[in-house]
Amino acid sequence: MTRPLHLSVALTLLLALGACGETAEPETTAEADPPASEPANDAEAKALTIYKSPTCGCCGDWVTHMEEAGFQASTEHPQQMRAIKMQLGIEPEYSSCHTGVSDEGYVFEGHIPAKVVQRFLENPPENALGLAVPRMPVGSPGMEMGERFEPYDVLLLKEDGSSEVYAHIDTAEEQY
Ligand code: CU
Ligand code: CU
Repeated sequence: MTRPLHLSVALTLLLALGACGETAEPETTAEADPPASEPANDAEAKALTIYKSPTCGCCGDWVTHMEEAGFQASTEHPQQMRAIKMQLGIEPEYSSCHTGVSDEGYVFEGHIPAKVVQRFLENPPENALGLAVPRMPVGSPGMEMGERFEPYDVLLLKEDGSSEVYAHIDTAEEQY
């Protein structure tokens, strides 16, 4: 009896195709020749390259969090994470596990809520390097541990190496 087997293979394929369809980039109706200075359409998926260790579980969960918010994430697994962070100008005091880089070259270090990244990309402050949530606060996106939540700051990193508070996150709810 091979027929049921074939059927289940066909079903699996169908499901896989269905899942692909769900994550496919939405069709954008491109306007003719938008002005060059205009920021990218908000509905368009924003691309992020995320550097992380292949074995980092919380990093993978953050990637999922970003994808669910509409980011198009591609991951890289470099041997030397510290070297990458140094190259990008992320001081050790700001560092976390993973490092995201947008197409424009802004850095997103650690477990930053997707909506804070979105807000930043819509209106990047002058001389900004990017954002960082140093270390790994419990309850931040990708660091969920039941009901536990540790309030934290999202820092604005500047090109001169200084930082300021960009967003204070007090409760788990305001992250989404
Ligand atoms: Cu982490
Ligand atoms: Cu991580």
